[in-house]
Amino acid sequence: MKSDAEPNRTRRKFLGMLAASPFVASSQVLGGSLTKLRAASEVTEGKFLEWLDELQRSSEPISSPDQAFDVMDFEAAARKALPPAHFGYLATGVDDDGTVRANREAYSRLQIRSRRLVDVEALDMSVSLFGTKWETPIVLSPVSAEKAFHPEGEIAAARAAKAKGHLMMLSTVATASIEEAVAARGGHVWQQLYPTNVWEVTQAIVKRAQAAGSPAIVLTVDLQEGSNRETLFRSQTVDKRDCGMCHSSSYTGFARKKPGMNTGRFAQYAAHKPMLNGLDLSKVTGLHPLNMNWDFVKRLRDTVSVKLLIKGLVTREDAQLAVEHGVNGIIVSNHGGRAEETLRGTIESLPEVVDGVAGRVPVIVDGGVRRGTDIFKALALGATAVGIGRPHAWGLAAFGQPGVEAVLEILRREFKTIMRQAGTTSIDKINRNYVVTRS
Ligand SMILES: Cc1cc2nc3c(=O)[nH]c(=O)nc-3n(C[C@H](O)[C@H](O)[C@H](O)COP(=O)(O)O)c2cc1C
Repeated sequence: MKSDAEPNRTRRKFLGMLAASPFVASSQVLGGSLTKLRAASEVTEGKFLEWLDELQRSSEPISSPDQAFDVMDFEAAARKALPPAHFGYLATGVDDDGTVRANREAYSRLQIRSRRLVDVEALDMSVSLFGTKWETPIVLSPVSAEKAFHPEGEIAAARAAKAKGHLMMLSTVATASIEEAVAARGGHVWQQLYPTNVWEVTQAIVKRAQAAGSPAIVLTVDLQEGSNRETLFRSQTVDKRDCGMCHSSSYTGFARKKPGMNTGRFAQYAAHKPMLNGLDLSKVTGLHPLNMNWDFVKRLRDTVSVKLLIKGLVTREDAQLAVEHGVNGIIVSNHGGRAEETLRGTIESLPEVVDGVAGRVPVIVDGGVRRGTDIFKALALGATAVGIGRPHAWGLAAFGQPGVEAVLEILRREFKTIMRQAGTTSIDKINRNYVVTRS
């Protein structure tokens, strides 16, 4: 027969184990209540269950990258680390943020058809993009102004990309230059391009990126001036800090502005953007020219001597036109739901773009990728690689370079797991037979 003391001893032993966990130890609330519980003369069942209840209810953000179970854990940590307006900038979609949600929800309508009895001992996650081999198909999508999230900004992201072996895309309006990013990454940085309305400025950015060794220019075409980023605007109203301490008044004016940007404001805004430094911006009125069309793509194609990709296509027709205009690759993207409220997830647009391209150029997709299974589904539907925007920025905001590394590591681990589970030993084996749409 068991004595009354035995469950008490077992509970104490379990609590001792929990106390050794870095997750609990680093949590002030949980760690504190655990210490109290352990110190109690008797760990009664009631006290123990109460504590477990508290543990379950706790939504305290992680306080170090190794505590994360999945990449979403970094979102709460980023929210805690950032001032409201900066987090608002990162999180925002447009209107009701419905397209941000659609990007995510569309993945949950896809189911995976796993095959069994396949020898998955040797697994190869590598992909090739324009002749360069990558260990995994996970790339860092361009995210502007990363120093608003962490003092080391894009440099920390580039170092993480180097440490983990990933391709990185640098925003035109990054807070680091292409030269700095290439140095930190050790090559392999694609330059994203917002051309502005002045051709000479477009040319200068392209030339500079090419001279810095960027092997690809990524023209973003999915964002017009004046997106209604309501979540951002609301977050600015609750942020009581003096934004003028860090931003010129034009910056906040820019963030809140409606269509059109006057020249003086643009020049002040550009002062924080190394890729625009030193350029004659006197005629620039916006990053996204309203008159950009396929003639512009043709002109750009004739100017760019490295690979040219278009980011932001979501239809078969545009995919076909892009290939006809000599574009080398397409990124299916809706700017992470920050441009327009289409309510269409990018994974839903991917199949028609893949059909339009007909295998002629690689297709990358981004928007809502948060799990290894999302990567698997995207590849099954014909993507060559996937981009992650917010997740890497959450990791950066919360913990700098180690945070970005942890995000990449988690996605890589999850992707490996689903490849094994589904019985696919290499990327080329992941095809449309592995996914079905939930009816
Ligand atoms: C804060 C933020 C800034 C962004 N800046 C740019 C940019 O400068 N250029 C660009 O082409 N896309 C930009 N994007 C879009 C991303 O490249 C990417 O398409 C999107 O974040 C993918 O969705 P996800 O955040 O759900 O992963 C930005 C996205 C966010 C969240």
